[in-house]
Formats: sequence, structure tokens, C-alpha cells
Amino acid sequence: MDIMEVFKARGSCRAYSDKPVDRELIGELLEAGCMAPSALNQQPWRFVVVEDREKIAEITAHALDTRDWLAAESGQGWVAKYDAGYIGDARALIIVGANPKKIGMGAYLGETEAHTKGASACIENILLAAAAKGLGSIWFTMYKADVLAELVGMAEGFQIMGLLPIGFPEGEVSSPPRKDYKDLTSFI
Ligand SMILES: Cc1cc2nc3c(=O)[nH]c(=O)nc-3n(C[C@H](O)[C@H](O)[C@H](O)COP(=O)(O)O)c2cc1C
Repeated sequence: MDIMEVFKARGSCRAYSDKPVDRELIGELLEAGCMAPSALNQQPWRFVVVEDREKIAEITAHALDTRDWLAAESGQGWVAKYDAGYIGDARALIIVGANPKKIGMGAYLGETEAHTKGASACIENILLAAAAKGLGSIWFTMYKADVLAELVGMAEGFQIMGLLPIGFPEGEVSSPPRKDYKDLTSFI
């Protein structure tokens, strides 16, 4: 697939089929993630792959609780209708953590977030690799990071950057429209 086709094929997937996804395929996604750039090549990421159905159900229950908590806390009623239960249908959940000590030379420039930038590049690589292989995923963040870290036993000192459900999509995946880069760019 041409790289532009891959970008266009990727979209947030919110419905998963029960077709199995083998570990080798998940390994390829993680390998793609590890090819991402990071400050001083410190590779700040760490992954936990959840395949256990009971653990996935537990994480899904936490995501739904978080969604309801967010709706109440923010007073934004529409949040309660925002779906989150589909993560329970995914074949696996890739949880990505990042180490805030791995910020390269950024510390000398007042930079405190370089680990999140590296982890973001890593996550995007995983999402694109999944799209190229016909898999669905989404960068999902409706959880309390400390609770999720505890639920999956994330390594000490790593902050959770995202939860990526992995599975074959049920139905079409479509993306909302994008702004035209010409309206967002100045050439000087
Ligand atoms: C940092 C980040 C957090 C996100 N968190 C959620 C989430 O918790 N739930 C959700 O349904 N979508 C989430 N999304 C997906 C966005 O809604 C989605 O990427 C955006 O609407 C564009 O749609 P597309 O991914 O289909 O192109 C998140 C995306 C990013 C980058």
C-alpha cells in the first residue's frame, strides 16, 4: 500500500469483529511502534498487551465508569452517550506507557514532555501499521491512568499514554473531515 493510502485507510475504529488476531501480527504492530523517533533515541515506551478476556472486561468496565464519571464531573450530558464499550470486543488491548525520565536533552531547554512526544510517534506508527494490515484500532484515553496502570501492572515509573484496542473492524471505518493544509500553513 502506498503511504498516502495507509493514512487514508486509518480511522478510529469503534466496532470490532471476533475474528482472531494472532500474536505475530500484534508483534509486527509493536515492531512498527518501536521504529518511531524519540528524543536522543531513548525509546521511552513500554507496552502491555492484554489478551485475557476477563482482564479486557475489567478494563472495559473501568472505561465505562470513567465515561460516566466524566459526564457527571464535566456536566456535559453528551459524554454519557459516548460509546466506550466496544473496547471489550477487541481481540487485544495494547497499553502504551512512557517514562518521564527519558526526555533527552530537553531537560536543559525547559522541556518536560519529550517522552509523550516519542510515545505519540510510537502510537501513530502502531495505528498506521494496523490500518495497513486491515486491522482496526483507536487511540483511546477514557480511563484514569493510575487505575489502568494498576490493572495491567504497568512498569513502575511509566505513565500511560494510550490504550489501543486491536481487532478486525466490524463494518466500515470512516473518519471525520480534515481542514485543508493550505488554510493552516504559511510558507516563508
Ligand atoms: C490523544 C487522543 C485521545 C483520544 N481519545 C479518544 C477516546 O478516549 N475515545 C474516542 O472515542 N476517541 C478518542 N480519540 C480519537 C479521536 O476522536 C479521533 O482520532 C478524531 O476524531 C479523528 O478521527 P479519526 O481518528 O477517525 O481520523 C483520541 C485521539 C487522540 C489523538
